[in-house]
Amino acid sequence: MAIPATRYPSSAAEARAAAEELGLPLLVKPSEPIGFRLAFQRQAFRCETLAELDDAYAKAEPFVPMLQEVVQGSDSALYTVGSYLDRSGEALGVFCGRKLRQTPPGVGTCRVGESLWLPDLVTSSLELLRACEYVGLSQVELKRDERDGSYKLMEINPRLWQWHTLSDACGVNLPLIAYRDLTGDPPSPCTSEGVRKRWAITLLAGERTVFPRPPYVEAVFSVRDPKPGLVHLARWGLKRLRALKRTTRSAG
Ligand SMILES: Nc1ncnc2c1ncn2[C@@H]1O[C@H](COP(=O)(O)OP(=O)(O)O)[C@@H](O)[C@H]1O
Ligand SMILES: [Mg+2]
Repeated sequence: MAIPATRYPSSAAEARAAAEELGLPLLVKPSEPIGFRLAFQRQAFRCETLAELDDAYAKAEPFVPMLQEVVQGSDSALYTVGSYLDRSGEALGVFCGRKLRQTPPGVGTCRVGESLWLPDLVTSSLELLRACEYVGLSQVELKRDERDGSYKLMEINPRLWQWHTLSDACGVNLPLIAYRDLTGDPPSPCTSEGVRKRWAITLLAGERTVFPRPPYVEAVFSVRDPKPGLVHLARWGLKRLRALKRTTRSAG
């Protein structure tokens, strides 16, 4: 499986040399993502120039940064294979889909996603997991490089992912599959092949509201569990109100 070209410099000078070798734009990503995200409220720095790289490397240095080629293409080129592999390596559940939109765009998290079955991607992702002797739930994320059409590995998340409820809506309830396998009652294998559905965060403070064609899977609002949706709605309303006040104050 192809991966984006990646270097692990241990000084600012090595980072510059790596950037000259790889070419720009580049991503500076932390090896220790949690502290980095708390410090900078983002997952990576995108650098278009060597000056930006120097600055990003200096900021990221405490978090053991790596330099990575930017896989070219829009956010809708980000594909996900979510699965549950049992101890013998059999896939008891497989979902395949892609993001349609991220927030913020470029390096972000899913805002709108859809199920879409790509057999070759499913095969290569499961092969990769089996080669790692991986057992359990996971998400393999890949990006299609528009320069040559190849799929490059973004990451393997050894857990459920943000928009996994779309998998359930497509008939692949991964947490239930895991539970049943671990309690000695494994279900027969199932996949999301042939099911086309969407998932979205409809309301997000500071961003345009999105309404994919219904019925779609809403990220937060649920009749069965209304509290998170109500809290989300209240926060969204408050932020809108504050923004409105700011605009009327600056206009006055
Ligand atoms: N090399 C890359 N080229 C293009 N986009 C990338 C690259 N690395 C990460 N991204 C973008 O950033 C997002 C988050 O990166 P990821 O490695 O998944 O970080 P996290 O572990 O924080 O989710 C990806 O979904 C993708 O959109
Ligand atoms: Mg990710």
